[in-house]
Amino acid sequence: MDTKHSILSELEKASPEYVSGELLSEKLGITRMAVSKAVKSLRNKGYEIESRKHYGYRLLSSSLDILDKETLLSAFGSSGIEVYYLDTTVSTNKDAKIIAQEGAVTPYVVVASSQSGGRGRLGRRFESPLGGVYFSLVLDGKDIRDSDLITIASAEAVGEVMERLTGISTSIKWVNDIYINGKKAVGILSEGIVNMEEKRLDRVVIGCGINLKTKLEDFPIELRDIVTSFYPDGEASLKRAQVIAECAKRIVEIQKEDFLENYKKKCFVIGKRVYVERKGERREADAVDLDEKGHLIVRYDDGTVDALSSGEISIRV
Ligand code: BTN
Repeated sequence: MDTKHSILSELEKASPEYVSGELLSEKLGITRMAVSKAVKSLRNKGYEIESRKHYGYRLLSSSLDILDKETLLSAFGSSGIEVYYLDTTVSTNKDAKIIAQEGAVTPYVVVASSQSGGRGRLGRRFESPLGGVYFSLVLDGKDIRDSDLITIASAEAVGEVMERLTGISTSIKWVNDIYINGKKAVGILSEGIVNMEEKRLDRVVIGCGINLKTKLEDFPIELRDIVTSFYPDGEASLKRAQVIAECAKRIVEIQKEDFLENYKKKCFVIGKRVYVERKGERREADAVDLDEKGHLIVRYDDGTVDALSSGEISIRV
């Protein structure tokens, strides 16, 4: 464990009590100056550490959720999923693809505490402030039951895990968004890496962004009416590492199951009036069903029926 993590671990054990700088320096065998430098660097990473004269340092409850390689390794246990961790990055999907090109063994996850350029579907941006959970799981194409259904399977898996861990009821907006009370709390972006010579799906990158403890004020103002977070005040004892590990493990496991019926029950779009937006054109329709490939079946007002595939259209309910 490096100095920063040792200090965090001591502060976490002692919280809500203070730990003196002197005790930290004795325990870790480092100077008081090194303690203060490490605390400063932890604060820069977003940890809220209070310091008080004659008492020392104290980790505030909002920071009692350490996310680093160690906590992740312990949460993933013997799952066989390799872990890559970054405090912050542009996009874990981007990193996951670079690591794939370097020949990394699957399955693995790339996790970050925040992203500066999180990517969403249809080229959109995915806001990724501290408090959320951002990971990309990479699987071998051979381990995917049906590549057409990968986003649907992942949304079902993540929805199930989040309901179980938080007790908060969720629904799914076809195809990849998980909602709480009409507002988006999770987005999933799956991307494939194709082996052109062998014409097969080599790797699948499943990127998942969960607004877990993201405070509402940390989202850009224009999003605050349409997004939400599982714990919008930022307070929860649920650990980010546990959420990531359980979601990733469930995504791997669900590949062997029949998940479509459960997904359909959660998908609030079916049976609703929707706007279908394709290449700048918008049409109203009734969403009537989902077919076995995960296409949304819609009936336009002129009676024509269409099977929509998620890559090209956007739906408004
Ligand atoms: C969407 O809502 O359109 C999909 C959002 C997917 C966001 C996740 S966060 C982790 C991974 N890295 C990214 O850049 N995007 C995905």
